[in-house]
Amino acid sequence: TPMERIRNFCIIAHIDHGKSTLADRMLQLTGVVDARAMRAQYLDRMDIERERGITVKSQAVRMPWQVDGVNYALNMIDTPGHVDFTYEVSRSLAACEGAILLVDAAQGIEAQTLANLYLAMENDLPIIPVLNKIDLPAADPEKYAAELAQLVGVDPSEVLRVSGKTGAGVEELLDHVVRTLPEPVGEIDAPCRAMIFDSVYDTYRGVVTYVRVIDGRMTPREKIVMMSTGAQHELLEIGVISPEPIPTKGLGPGEVGYLITGVKDVRQSKVGDTVTAAVRGATEALAGYADPKPMVYSGLFPIDGSDYPILRDALDKLKLNDAALNYEPETSTALGFGFRVGFLGLLHLEIVRERLEREFNLDLISTAPSVVYQVTMEDGTEVEVMNPSDFPTGKVREIREPVSRGTIIVPSEFVGTVMELCQTKRGSLQGMDYLSEERVELRYQLPLAEIVFDFFDQLKSRTKGYASLDYDVSGEQAADLVKVDMLLQGEPVDAFSAIVHRDKAYHYGVEMAGKLKNLIPRQQFEVPIQAAIGSRIIARENIRALRKDVLSKCYGGDISRKRKLLEKQKEGKKRMKNIGSVEVPQEAFIAALSSD
Ligand code: GTP
Repeated sequence: TPMERIRNFCIIAHIDHGKSTLADRMLQLTGVVDARAMRAQYLDRMDIERERGITVKSQAVRMPWQVDGVNYALNMIDTPGHVDFTYEVSRSLAACEGAILLVDAAQGIEAQTLANLYLAMENDLPIIPVLNKIDLPAADPEKYAAELAQLVGVDPSEVLRVSGKTGAGVEELLDHVVRTLPEPVGEIDAPCRAMIFDSVYDTYRGVVTYVRVIDGRMTPREKIVMMSTGAQHELLEIGVISPEPIPTKGLGPGEVGYLITGVKDVRQSKVGDTVTAAVRGATEALAGYADPKPMVYSGLFPIDGSDYPILRDALDKLKLNDAALNYEPETSTALGFGFRVGFLGLLHLEIVRERLEREFNLDLISTAPSVVYQVTMEDGTEVEVMNPSDFPTGKVREIREPVSRGTIIVPSEFVGTVMELCQTKRGSLQGMDYLSEERVELRYQLPLAEIVFDFFDQLKSRTKGYASLDYDVSGEQAADLVKVDMLLQGEPVDAFSAIVHRDKAYHYGVEMAGKLKNLIPRQQFEVPIQAAIGSRIIARENIRALRKDVLSKCYGGDISRKRKLLEKQKEGKKRMKNIGSVEVPQEAFIAALSSD
């Protein structure tokens, strides 16, 4: 297809504003999927995505569309809407010439509307403002068209109105895409360069890589190079998705499609990388390749220790399709054998955990999420700490933690309570704007550790669910942080060590000590539970000793009953963990970690 007949666009929206529904409607109207074969949310292939109604992996579909008797090829590039996947969003945006900014006509602008809009503006993309769900009785198109128009700097009459559900306005929107978005630019005679904007593992075909060709032409059977690694592969197949993969004789500038090289791991075909020809290829890669960096770490342990090999195999499998997933074995005195796993953010953590439990039938316990700290020791050595229990001993000069820029949008009556929350989470206000009389955008700098802890839950509960949040990691700062250990009879319990701000250490210690006291059964002797910073004890509870031992109940008479009891006790011991001389059922640790 010549470039003047191609339009590449994406739809960006806040979660639940109806992106997938609109995309489905477009597939249907362009005849790519017929009404009978249409299943809800065609683009969201993974079961878990469909159930949770979120888009994790981006995809691209080519759709034919006629305007004024001329045939065009529209490439719709689906983007993940969630903050954890910002890098994938920005790569998808880089593959487009324009973006549809979709806003729910009953909700108005939300935090991810802004976050995604800013990303699109950074990519210099023209924006088509669209109100969705105009069929809803609660829709207030006049009000929100004004809000949206002001945001993108157009007249309210230029805001399109559609319903993905009924299809109203969607054909006009497709015409508008053709008429107003620019055609791609690229050089047909230059050495070929294509940008990878997604990479998906498929059991039958290996890795399927989604690309946008910028210059030149790519043809089947030629040798290609991944420019970030220099790795060469044979191009086994190249084609377009419409909506199933259709092999073609090649892809030219401006075109969007897929390629298959036979590699088995998405890490060999990385989002953001440039693909070129092995012979007379390009020498300069396209801008913008970054390795996804885990921001949040958590220990994952099987509740049944014998599941450890299953967990290892399951992680190996997920990794084939998730370049951001990162893990290494971890051993804990409290929880046994498991893995320290790195995630992009909390949603990523939740998704991985749910997939492990559901697809591999695992029962898992995860330790409190932790961010990565940079510790400078008194002698100048630098240590990166991803696990509080690995915190170095010795004199510390400085600890730095990641900080993030958070954008929060709330109805104005909640501004006070949100500010209070951000204050207790060590936030500093960077700016505040009224989007309308009732809605306010607050910008805060917040430590990432505070956000991953329970910020989102608290924000939602304090605003009756009305607040929306978006954040991205923007740098690091030095902070007065300390490591708090929980000790059972003087022995640290690794899974409960935490790095917290000095002002909150006491609170954490008292709370954890109280929790453990209630969960750990009494022993033959008194057991102190302490919270400590280094050698300084900051909180203490006692588990009182048992007064009688098990056998005293038996009055000496019945021997078989005595044996039974002893056997039962042995049974129970198997699942006991020894912390020093204290025996703790694993359940107690699990309960202490899972209850909030
Ligand atoms: P993510 O993929 O998580 O970003 O969500 P989304 O933006 O794709 O939203 P989705 O298409 O899943 O729609 C969210 C909800 O809104 C679903 O319950 C849809 O049925 C509903 N919905 C979407 N479009 C419309 C519409 O035009 N009218 C009405 N009434 N409901 C809609």
